[in-house]
Amino acid sequence: MKVIGINASPRKKANTQTLVASILNGAAEKGAETRLVNLRELNIHGCLGCEGCKKHLGKCVQKDDLTILLQDMTAYDAIVMGTPVYWYHVSAQFKMLVDRLYSFFEFGENPQTGEQTMKSEFPAGKKFIFTISRGDPEPPVLFPQFYDHLNEWLNLIPLSLGAGSYEFFHQYGAGIDRKSARNDSDILTKAKAAGAGLVSSV
Ligand SMILES: Cc1cc2nc3c(=O)[nH]c(=O)nc-3n(C[C@H](O)[C@H](O)[C@H](O)COP(=O)(O)O)c2cc1C
Repeated sequence: MKVIGINASPRKKANTQTLVASILNGAAEKGAETRLVNLRELNIHGCLGCEGCKKHLGKCVQKDDLTILLQDMTAYDAIVMGTPVYWYHVSAQFKMLVDRLYSFFEFGENPQTGEQTMKSEFPAGKKFIFTISRGDPEPPVLFPQFYDHLNEWLNLIPLSLGAGSYEFFHQYGAGIDRKSARNDSDILTKAKAAGAGLVSSV
């Protein structure tokens, strides 16, 4: 089994990276082949909205590292995607990746019924774990409704990609300490177990 972990925190070796790496370690201990990608180390850009991908579905026209990564993702059995919470949402790097996944989709209309259709070139059936690190505790004190919105929105990614299974792995109360996940043996154990679960549930 092949598992890729994508860390979308701009902070080096911080909480999100720790969680993604721990999930990968758990999978590796069960025999998976794993790869960690730190988006901050890549040359990546946001979607241009050029619709060029609609001429060659599944292929973004940009010549940057995200185009390569999007192609690479199709070859993995399981995908771990990690983001810190920024402004009650995902990081800019994470959003860039999600926006660029647009290159796999074609939207149209059923001529008989007029219903909207969505065709995807992204291979269905993959397993996903989303790991999300945030400063605020659970339950949050301020603006809890915006976390409801974020948690709802995150479902859109595996649902549109035709995931075979998916789960969310949260770190709450990290504050601004980049080492808080690293120093929390309980969350590290749970992250490894989540990674192991990717393999054992094959
Ligand atoms: C620009 C910015 C915005 C943030 N917004 C939030 C937020 O809305 N809610 C929250 O709980 N934490 C927020 N945080 C804190 C981070 O989510 C938290 O420190 C997280 O652990 C960072 O992950 P990392 O260590 O992988 O970078 C924010 C941090 C930054 C730098």
